[in-house]
Amino acid sequence: MCGIIGIVASSNVSGQLLESLQRLEYRGYDSAGIATLSNGELDRRRAKGKLQALIDVVSTSPLEGQVGIGHTRWATHGAPSAINAHPHLSGRVAVVHNGIIENYVALKADLMASGHVFESDTDTEVVAHMIEAALASGAAPLEALKSTLDRLEGAYALAVIVEGENDLVMGARRGSPLVVGYGDGEMFIGSDALAVGPFTNRITYLEEGDYVAINRESARIFDAEGNSVERAKHTVASSAVLVEKGNYRHFMEKEIHEQPDSSQHTLARYIDPVAGSPSEHILDFTGISRLQVVACGTAYYAGLVGKYLIEDIAGIPVDIEIASEFRYRNPVMDPGTLTVAISQSGETADTLAALRWCKERGLRTAAIVNAHQSTMAREADIVLGTYAGPEICVLSTKAFTAQIVVLISLAIAGARQRGRIDVATERRYVRELLEAPRLIAQTLSIERQIANLAQDLMRSCDMLFLGRGVMYPMAMEGALKLKESSYIHAEGCAAGEMKHGPISLIDDVTPVVVLAPSDELFDKTMSNLREVIARSGPVTMITDAEGAARAPSEVRVIIVPTGPKLINALIYAVPLQLIAYHIGVCKGTDVDQPRNLAKSVTVE
Ligand code: G6P
Repeated sequence: MCGIIGIVASSNVSGQLLESLQRLEYRGYDSAGIATLSNGELDRRRAKGKLQALIDVVSTSPLEGQVGIGHTRWATHGAPSAINAHPHLSGRVAVVHNGIIENYVALKADLMASGHVFESDTDTEVVAHMIEAALASGAAPLEALKSTLDRLEGAYALAVIVEGENDLVMGARRGSPLVVGYGDGEMFIGSDALAVGPFTNRITYLEEGDYVAINRESARIFDAEGNSVERAKHTVASSAVLVEKGNYRHFMEKEIHEQPDSSQHTLARYIDPVAGSPSEHILDFTGISRLQVVACGTAYYAGLVGKYLIEDIAGIPVDIEIASEFRYRNPVMDPGTLTVAISQSGETADTLAALRWCKERGLRTAAIVNAHQSTMAREADIVLGTYAGPEICVLSTKAFTAQIVVLISLAIAGARQRGRIDVATERRYVRELLEAPRLIAQTLSIERQIANLAQDLMRSCDMLFLGRGVMYPMAMEGALKLKESSYIHAEGCAAGEMKHGPISLIDDVTPVVVLAPSDELFDKTMSNLREVIARSGPVTMITDAEGAARAPSEVRVIIVPTGPKLINALIYAVPLQLIAYHIGVCKGTDVDQPRNLAKSVTVE
């Protein structure tokens, strides 16, 4: 998965291309490149590494031209290198691509047999050669694009410029998102609204199979069959301000601190505080006998938290599976199943494929998504938006807690609709959920203590996170966050399962973080904690005031606010995120863009 941008303007576009790539860096950041038509001729600059490397190249060797394309890469085919960085050229054509061309080996063999010489190891380069070959045989640019698209298998969002075409950028999408942005005397195509956000908030989201030609004034859009089509224009909320770091050092820090607001904004959509109940539109559970959650990464752990709460409160069976596994087996689904995809981006390839798999079998689908115009949001029967705002740090924080807010709201709504709880209990749950923004804000005040803890833990090679009940998925999420932010190996374990294996990892240098709210599982968790202490493991216990009063003297205690059990996942998310953030910062990792990761994983 990568980010792409294409611009036709009436002044030099290289600055705009780089600005857009900054917004797109969350999609990949192992190399970047831009190409323009400079005095009618193709020219490009590319660099391995973060975007700054390309910015440096362009500042020493500027690129002129009013028509251009740009790309930020997350390598799939071919190592991260300048040679494999996009744009790829062939003759008059330059191409940037997000996705994977699955039949590129066969296409490349054909092209090489007819004399084409390739310079990169990428799948993308075939696209440039195919368009060039079509142009050489007399096709007009759009025809050349269309005939190429017809032969591609796999997923793509493409932006293409052609030497001699000084008022044209072409684009196409299948499987990867692409938007058209409408400016004044300038036009854009880009991977998403953020890509074109610095220049316009007037957007068209292309449909699956669409291709497009933009010039300075307008866009011509065609469907997969080549018919000219109209697609709706949207005015998106101006997000330019939201994607700045403000006074924070990192987006991760900013997004952790935004959680009182992001949870509040999400709550406001799902909870009617006056009625004391979930909003009517949330979900009609009639005919739904089971939920099947599919998700990846952090969204999967949110789903697991949801499973515990929905089964407990609403009594609705919830199965949950990692999307990349679900899609490649034959899960047994009955007609009463509602599939719930959870995804910040709404574009994760595996989650999307799992959602489509269910749709194709006639099952109802819902998507809990933060990107409201994403492919999942458009394809699911029911959209349950999270309102966390743009999340830029590759590590998901505020989207995660917003997903949990939606899942708790669903649990309450399901419980009420199915008669599992009475009105008074519903009101109590709603009151408790409404406490979340305040308690998250209060929890953030422990940041200094966590920063000190991070100094002590930063040299660890391994760490264990333990928890029971909802704190078990939270332990796994804490471990994932730490791995991503600091490259420290970490595992999240069910506290009770520790004795069946992970306990062999305990020694006097492996820190153990125990999540232990003072609930009915507290004593059980304490027994496991003592098993660690008995083996000299250094323990940090995250608990509330009552738990702290009962903590063994050997452990370091971090006290978080005492919350209702219903929202403990939201409270305990904060110290876990702060531990990952501060250890990453102490170690000097680029926490917003850790190595090898990308925010939006649009490949399998
Ligand atoms: C990537 C990101 C994770 C994220 C996961 C799922 O792996 O690095 O932070 O949790 O994708 O992304 P989604 O957009 O579907 O929530």
